[in-house]
Amino acid sequence: MAAEARIIDGKAAAAALRAEIASEVSGIKAARGLVPGLHVVLVGEDPASRVYVASKEKQAVEVGMNSVAHRLPPETSEAELLAKVAQLNADDSVDGILVQLPLPAHIDADRIIDAIDPAKDVDGFHLSNVGKLAAGRAALVPCTPLGSMILLRQTLGSLAGLEAVVIGRSAIVGKPMAQLLLQADCTVTLAHSRTRDLPAVVRRADIVIAAVGRPRMVKGDWIKPGATVIDVGINRLPDGKLAGDVDFAEAVKVAGAITPVPGGVGPMTIACLLKNTLTAFHARRG
Ligand code: GUN
Repeated sequence: MAAEARIIDGKAAAAALRAEIASEVSGIKAARGLVPGLHVVLVGEDPASRVYVASKEKQAVEVGMNSVAHRLPPETSEAELLAKVAQLNADDSVDGILVQLPLPAHIDADRIIDAIDPAKDVDGFHLSNVGKLAAGRAALVPCTPLGSMILLRQTLGSLAGLEAVVIGRSAIVGKPMAQLLLQADCTVTLAHSRTRDLPAVVRRADIVIAAVGRPRMVKGDWIKPGATVIDVGINRLPDGKLAGDVDFAEAVKVAGAITPVPGGVGPMTIACLLKNTLTAFHARRG
C-alpha cells in the first residue's frame, strides 16, 4: 500500500507569496515614492461577499498597498456603478479594480466588466484579457487559476507532457485553467456536466483540477495512483463545515499530492489578486 498523498499547503504558499509582494511593494515605495493601489467595489450586503471584500482589503493593507474598498448601497443603479468604474479608470493612482460578484439582479455584470480598463482588470475577466490569454499573450489572468498553477509548479516542477483533466467549464476557473495548462504544455481535457463516463476520463489524468461546486463529487477510485489533485471547490455542508469538490478522505489514499479544503487553493486566490495588482502596476506605470 502506497503512502498517503503529500498535502499541498496553500496557506504556507500564499504567505510566502504575500511576503514576496510586500518586499516588492516596499522596494517600489523606497525607490520611486509610489504605492500600488487596489480598489475593490462591493454593491449591496451579500454576507459572503462582505467577508471576501474585507479579506481582500485587509490583505492588500498588510502587503503595504493603498487598499480602498468602495461599499455601495444595494439600490445603486447600473449607471451609478458605471460612473464609479469610470472614476477609478481615470484615476492614475488606481492600479487594480475589482468589482465583487455577484452583483444585484438589476445590474448587468457583463456591462460592468466590459467598462473596466483592461489594464486595471486584476480579476482578468475583461474580454481583452480573456482573448489575450487564449491567444497566449501577456494578460491579467483570473486569480484562482493563477494560484492553482503556482501550486502545481511548486509540486511538480515542469508540467510538460502531463495529462491534465479540468472538471468544470466556468469562465472564472475552468476555461482559463485549461488555457494555462495548455500554455504549460499539458495535454488538456476540459470536462463538464455533460461529459460521458467522467470517472474514466479523470482516471487518465496526471493532474486533476476539480472546479464544479459539488461537494465530494470526485471519488477516490477516479484518481490515478500518484496523480496531483487540485481541489478548487469550497462548498458549505449542512453541518456548517466546508468540503471541496473531491472526496478528500478517499483521494488522499490514492493521489501523489492533494490540496485540502480549506487551506489549499483558497488562500492563493487573494494572494494572486495582490500579485495581479503588482503586475498591473508594472505594466501601466513601468
Ligand atoms: N466572487 C466570487 N469570486 C470572485 C472573484 O474571483 N472575483 C470577483 N470579482 N467576484 C467574485
